[in-house]
Amino acid sequence: MKIVHTASEMFPYLKTGGLADVTGALCKSLSRFGHDISFFIPGYRKILESPEFSKAKLKVVLQIELGEDYLRGEVYAVPIGKRQTLYIIRRDEFFDRSNPYGSGNRDYDDNDRRFIWFCKAIVEAMHVLEIKADIFHCHDWQTGLAPLFLRMLEQEHRTTLALKTFFSIHNLAFQGLFPSSSFRFTNLADEFNELDGIEFYEQISMIKGGIFFADKILTVSPNYAKEILTSDFGCGMEGALSVREDDLVGIANGIDYEVWNPETDALLPANYSSKDLSGKLLCRKKLLDTVGLSDTDQPVYGIVCRLTEQKGLDLLLKQMNFFIKNDCRLVVLGMGDPFYERALKRWAKSHPDKIGVCMVLDEGMSHLVEAGSDFYLMPSIFEPCGLNQMYSQRYGTPPLVSDVGGLHDTVVDFRENEESGTGFLFAPKDDAFKKALEHSLKIFSSKESMNRMRLNGMSRDFSWSNVVKEYESLYSESL
Ligand code: ADP
Ligand code: GLC
Repeated sequence: MKIVHTASEMFPYLKTGGLADVTGALCKSLSRFGHDISFFIPGYRKILESPEFSKAKLKVVLQIELGEDYLRGEVYAVPIGKRQTLYIIRRDEFFDRSNPYGSGNRDYDDNDRRFIWFCKAIVEAMHVLEIKADIFHCHDWQTGLAPLFLRMLEQEHRTTLALKTFFSIHNLAFQGLFPSSSFRFTNLADEFNELDGIEFYEQISMIKGGIFFADKILTVSPNYAKEILTSDFGCGMEGALSVREDDLVGIANGIDYEVWNPETDALLPANYSSKDLSGKLLCRKKLLDTVGLSDTDQPVYGIVCRLTEQKGLDLLLKQMNFFIKNDCRLVVLGMGDPFYERALKRWAKSHPDKIGVCMVLDEGMSHLVEAGSDFYLMPSIFEPCGLNQMYSQRYGTPPLVSDVGGLHDTVVDFRENEESGTGFLFAPKDDAFKKALEHSLKIFSSKESMNRMRLNGMSRDFSWSNVVKEYESLYSESL
């Protein structure tokens, strides 16, 4: 199949979260299965500075209508491996910035223009470059209007650019909501600014474009696909989603074993496998040294995440005394909401030998936390899929996770099933989290149980080569 993917992030070119890991691994796996992949991404500064960009060729210059203006953009292409082409859509006014979405904790004021323009530029580039796809697959709100723009362009030019369009929701909490006045940048007829269009409570919603106008809607785990039809998890979109319920499918993400494999991971001080875990101890030591924590015979708990409410940091902050009282260690790697950054820094300052926080974006450090911790924490209040709980199982670091979203689909509770349990699932509530923490201490004191849980996790198969088969059949069934 000829498949066009587009998203605002793709590993290793630009990553702020799991979206990048997923688009990167999914496209790589699809191409290895023989499909021809094109990927459209904005020309962010990090991409313009990458070695790939120095090899990219200018393919076309576009003039894209945006409200009353026509704004120029350039499309560069660079081949990646045998069957992938990365198309970089460049307009420096919009994308040559150090951060993709905002500065500090504030979104850029022109995100409406930036991403409406990007969606238009993708389909215009496909048209001019004569890229005809079997499947056109967009991810998250930044590309939410592209399926609609694609059909509009096809109508206007009496052509076919894609047989079927797909839209993946990676996180419904980010919807691309803008004031109604931003609608003018779409240059769409007014009828699209209504309830069955992209209007959302007197605003416009870019994610609603994907939900209403793509042929098929995907999300990143079967459980999240069910949850988002309810008002508890639907973020106000449950109504729109239930209209499309028959076309909504959940496929749990996989993990990229070329990047996340303790046997070969070059970012670790020592490698290890389920047959010989000795390297894991070296990783633990290195982790404690790096963060400046003292050694202990109690467990080291690790967490790597955006510091946002979603990740359950309120629950974590209420349990800080657990770590201190029990002589455990806690390592937090993450950046985000200044409230959580300040609170965590205060704990680290008052207990410098037990609590370590690293407020940087550091790929190597994220691998070290996964490998060097004894347990991984993910008390999310919602989680579309989550990747770290899969990385941690792979790295022999049993996760303690809330029983929500994709965490429910990817972790087996050891308390319920010792034969195959890989971690602990709990309701995202203070008491339940506390009980799971206490239970983890008990398990840690029994070498045999701990090893069993570790090995159960390490032997699970989360590889993309399995997951990609589900994408393949969904794509072919749709044609
Ligand atoms: P989300 O996409 O909601 O942030 P996921 O669990 O799907 O959550 O993926 C998060 C990804 O971002 C993981 O690969 C994780 O290791 C990475 N990550 C998050 N914060 C950091 C950080 N400070 N440094 C390095 N990697 C990080
Ligand atoms: C989102 C979600 C996360 C998911 C990731 C990749 O950022 O918050 O749960 O794993 O996308 O699909």
